[in-house]
Amino acid sequence: MQDTSKHTLDINAIRADFPILQRKINGKPLVYFDNAATSQTPQQVIDAIVNYYTNDNANIHRGVHTLSQIATDAYEQAREKIRAHFNAQHAHEIIFTAGTTHGINLVASGYSQLLNDRDEVIVSAMEHHSNIVPWQMMCEKTGAQLKVIPMTEQGELDLDTFDSLLNDRTKLVFINHVSNALGTVNPIQEIIDKTHAVGAKILIDGAQAAPHIKADVQALDIDFYTVSAHKMCGPTGVGVLYGKEELLEALPPYQGGGEMIAEVNFDKTTYAGLPHKFEAGTPNISGGIAFGVALDYMNAIGFEEIADYEMELLIYATGQLKDIGDIRIYGTSVERKTAVVSFNVNGTHSYDIGTLLDKMGIAVRTGHHCAQPIMKFYKIPGTVRASFSFYNTKEEIDLFIDGVKKAKSMLL
Ligand code: ALA
Repeated sequence: MQDTSKHTLDINAIRADFPILQRKINGKPLVYFDNAATSQTPQQVIDAIVNYYTNDNANIHRGVHTLSQIATDAYEQAREKIRAHFNAQHAHEIIFTAGTTHGINLVASGYSQLLNDRDEVIVSAMEHHSNIVPWQMMCEKTGAQLKVIPMTEQGELDLDTFDSLLNDRTKLVFINHVSNALGTVNPIQEIIDKTHAVGAKILIDGAQAAPHIKADVQALDIDFYTVSAHKMCGPTGVGVLYGKEELLEALPPYQGGGEMIAEVNFDKTTYAGLPHKFEAGTPNISGGIAFGVALDYMNAIGFEEIADYEMELLIYATGQLKDIGDIRIYGTSVERKTAVVSFNVNGTHSYDIGTLLDKMGIAVRTGHHCAQPIMKFYKIPGTVRASFSFYNTKEEIDLFIDGVKKAKSMLL
């Protein structure tokens, strides 16, 4: 098929950086459309991990010896790259975590010691379980009341109702930047401004946005932002929490242990300053360094170019899917979506479609996508979710569309 698109990316050169894209699955070339769960890893990031364990492996912040200093410098350089990427004011506002879930639990655990039963907190109906359950646990401990911003049939947030939920008791709002199950890009600037207008703080789950949109935490005036490396070309088991300095200073530590202390005595222990207060124990050092390399890789391609190309893929796939017929797409805010298309073939179960696609080498996610409230809203057990990345192609979408047609004809 001739590429008639306007993007400037050299997709073949980009694809050559990802060794896994040469793989066959069930005898067919891999078509990897499960990028919203985990993106693939370019050779540059794989090389950084291999190089770390081959040449530089040592613990950080502990030794005077040369290797420890090399590892520490590389880890801190990665923190600085991440700071620059999100335009945080200070590197110590970037806390390394095991991923977005860890970052949210860190903040929720801290607020469990700061809130009380007169306080109210607000979540949205469109969240991943990792941005619901930690807050429910916080509410159980504090007695704070949890309120929910409803969603619309298009998969957007009902901001008029949000207005009516906000009041001077509201202490925290937690909301995703992009829905993992629907791809909706939420209007976070408006939500942040409304939150701040009543004096509350906001945590944005950036896990699904960060691979597509470069958030400027200062320009947006974000209080807390959490991301995972493995959704943006980095390794699993590492991510960061950004928090404004004064908010992180006020938050109690999450885990106790080595590295997070100033001085330990049996009658009283004092805690280290930021970021170490929240980084107890030996971290995922190679993962942090590789996250920095992943950001270098994506920035060299360019986030605007990535977003433009992925939008072309989304529009193409959405049109082709609709043409099949008997398809219901969930999350229809196409102008405000990342490259995610969540759908069902009427009269079939998402697992059956996903299993048949897998036999054809096509990887999609099926089920509730850790977002059961969204599925309950639509009164369905789950969807098929195809999520695209900048290394995917329209040819792959054609294979996927053929696959959905075949699966449909086998099941109906
Ligand atoms: N949160 C990831 C997803 O949406 C795992 O698939």
